[in-house]
Amino acid sequence: MAMTLDGHVAHPTQAWEFGSPEDRRRMDRLREWADCLVVSRRTLEHDDMNLTVRTKPHSKRHPRPVIVMKSLRPFKPNLRTLKNRHRGGELWISIATPPKIETLWPDLHEMWPVFTFNQIHDIVSSLQGRGYQKILLEGGPTLNGLFFESNLVDEFYLTILPLIWGGKTTDRSVITENPIPLQRFTLRSCERRKNEIYLHYAKKRT
Ligand SMILES: NC(=O)c1ccc[n+]([C@@H]2O[C@H](COP(=O)([O-])OP(=O)(O)OC[C@H]3O[C@@H](n4cnc5c(N)ncnc54)[C@H](OP(=O)(O)O)[C@@H]3O)[C@@H](O)[C@H]2O)c1
Repeated sequence: MAMTLDGHVAHPTQAWEFGSPEDRRRMDRLREWADCLVVSRRTLEHDDMNLTVRTKPHSKRHPRPVIVMKSLRPFKPNLRTLKNRHRGGELWISIATPPKIETLWPDLHEMWPVFTFNQIHDIVSSLQGRGYQKILLEGGPTLNGLFFESNLVDEFYLTILPLIWGGKTTDRSVITENPIPLQRFTLRSCERRKNEIYLHYAKKRT
């Protein structure tokens, strides 16, 4: 996640494209490491980002996109992920019966399976059961909250951006319906490049 000096992780009107090329390069390094890239449908539609290792488009090592949602409405048309034709990904929806892919994403490139889940843990268990061990979660904050509530996060990467825009919104990197039990972290690294700071935390296991 990237956060402004005054704590914002979402912009009221714009897509989130505030990080520097260095921040994107670091994100790409994580994407290259990851087997899967988990992102919410809301963030994908809002920011319309590519779900690949963007600085190395010809790399053989792109994470598998995993898109999470709860509503049955169709995807916004013309998303970049669609145009760029990933090799394949999957959709997860928190309802009892899986819909047909065509209802969610009429022109989706070949055979992205649609799975259903009760608990967010179901997604992680299924991915791990199929050999996807390294899972990178890229938000947004509400989806992050579901993962934190289920105690599914081991590490946290946070970029501090030299920006402020104030306002009254209460966006933050992790949003949950109710406060969750305190989670503690150890600072693994703290690096500065120009005006940004990159923080890497590991969860303390009790
Ligand atoms: N600063 C950063 O690094 C960063 C990173 C990522 C995103 N963002 C920003 O975050 C904002 C969006 O964040 P957000 O918190 O509003 O939303 P979000 O976390 O991106 O999306 C929440 C998603 O979770 C699904 N969902 C909600 N409750 C659920 C449940 N109980 N079970 C299953 N799925 C559930 C929703 O599905 P439906 O779509 O079907 O409702 C929705 O897609 C955007 O402005 C984006 O730019 C910032």
